[in-house]
Amino acid sequence: MSERTLVLIKPDAVSRGLVGEILSRYERKNLTIVAMEQRTIDSALADAHYAEHVEKPFYPGLRDFITSAPLVALVLEGDQAIDVVRKMNGATDSRVADPGTIRGDLSISKSENLVHASDSTESAKRELALWFPELD
Ligand code: CMP
Repeated sequence: MSERTLVLIKPDAVSRGLVGEILSRYERKNLTIVAMEQRTIDSALADAHYAEHVEKPFYPGLRDFITSAPLVALVLEGDQAIDVVRKMNGATDSRVADPGTIRGDLSISKSENLVHASDSTESAKRELALWFPELD
């Protein structure tokens, strides 16, 4: 079934010049880019996006990082896109992410892990409404 998922190409990827490489992987997989925007987000959007993490000890660092510089937000569409994109991204901790995944190939950090993608149908719905309300 065709699905949409929210992807963030995080500030570490933008500053390292990896946007093209990462987008190209999604395009080669034949996912459709439905929307895409580069923006620098404020802490209100960071807190809303990461609502489930705001009380965690690592969150202040994550908020500083995600608001520090431009990121690229995009909506990808395709058959089972939510699971497909999460597999392509690899495990959250890039140090143990499998080779062949974006994190496994291009990052060695647990926190600066290049990309974010919605992890379920429910989170995709919530995150798409938060980042791209005009698509609804
Ligand atoms: P993401 O997929 O965006 O979802 C939550 C983010 O929090 C995660 O990627 C990492 O960037 C970050 N994260 C998760 N766990 C930790 C941790 N233990 N320490 C630092 N950052 C973390």
